Amino acid sequence: MSAPATHPVTAPVLTVEGLEKRFAVRGTFGRNAKTVHALSEVSLSVRKGQTVGIVGESGCGKSTVARVIMGLIRQDDGIIRLHGQPSDHLPASLKKRRRIVQMVFQDSSASLNPRLNIEASIMFAPMVNGTSRDEARTHAHHLLERTGLDPAQFAGRYPHELSGGQRQRVNIARALALRPELIIFDEAVSALDKSVEAQVLNLLLDLKKEFDLSYLFISHDLNVVHYISDDLVVMYLGQIVERGPADLIYAHPGHPYTRALLAAMPNPDPETRTETAPVFGDPPSPIDPPSGCRFHTRCPFAEAVCEASQPDQQRIGADHDVACHMADGTSGHSRAGSIEQ
Ligand SMILES: Nc1ncnc2c1ncn2[C@@H]1O[C@H](COP(=O)(O)OP(=O)(O)OP(=O)(O)O)[C@@H](O)[C@H]1O
Ligand code: SF4
Ligand SMILES: [Mg+2]
Repeated sequence: MSAPATHPVTAPVLTVEGLEKRFAVRGTFGRNAKTVHALSEVSLSVRKGQTVGIVGESGCGKSTVARVIMGLIRQDDGIIRLHGQPSDHLPASLKKRRRIVQMVFQDSSASLNPRLNIEASIMFAPMVNGTSRDEARTHAHHLLERTGLDPAQFAGRYPHELSGGQRQRVNIARALALRPELIIFDEAVSALDKSVEAQVLNLLLDLKKEFDLSYLFISHDLNVVHYISDDLVVMYLGQIVERGPADLIYAHPGHPYTRALLAAMPNPDPETRTETAPVFGDPPSPIDPPSGCRFHTRCPFAEAVCEASQPDQQRIGADHDVACHMADGTSGHSRAGSIEQ
């Protein structure tokens, strides 16, 4: 699979700056309340027409980023901007945000009301927003057609009468119904068979062009994210450890964690197979995360400086940033300055 051509530089549709999100969790019998540090200083932007992929192991905060952006949960700190304008949690602001940003989740059946047929499911949000029934129906049929489902055959069906791939096509049609500019896909193809997954990914590429969309695409599968994304964001324990053009990161991963993620992937091509050992074990708990670089408990290059201080993002190439002491020539790490392109 090869990634789509890098998109020319355009204005950001979405910018998030310094997002912080903590969850309070209770210990046994409600005692020992603790804090999950789900997001720390997360900043990213999605330009018009661009697809930004987010990757990282389970629990690193991918869905939390998506839920905060959608306004389903409120960040503790940080700013969300749409077309440069800050968006708050007041009802008018949230309503506007959800017109611009829509989301498709992994669980295709949980997202659909089992009592509504497909047509009604797609018509629902536009009608709530004032579109007439006839116009909403015509638009729903058009969207079914565009997502590869013949309206004559599928409009009257119910969710349980569809396959997982067909249900996900309906969810995509529903996300398109309010004519958004940005769609967030949270593991939206992860539950599908490989052949269906490839069809849906190609559908997403077609729809992006046709409807002039931008995507934020979340997956734990680096192959899938690389295929669909222009830029990649790699997360570890609530923080961004690497970001940059998808092709560049795939070919020259900078951060030891990204290298390990890539090494852990099945790659049939021996020419591009990396030699780095995959990371072993589970990530540490986001309750009380490790000091300094959060990856130091699993990193083969960890030294005293890694435990003592948190690395800043360092620019190592065109639009390519890595948060690692080895990318900083002045960090004091014995390999300082060794990560470069
Ligand atoms: N409502 C909540 N209450 C407490 N902790 C939460 C809540 N939502 C998420 N978390 C915690 O925040 C961290 C980030 O979770 P999140 O769901 O964003 O991860 P993820 O990267 O999407 O994982 P996955 O790949 O498994 O979907 C995890 O440690 C998770 O347990
Ligand atoms: S800062 Fe240190 S521990 Fe963190 S990734 Fe770089 S070398 Fe590894
Ligand atoms: Mg998730």
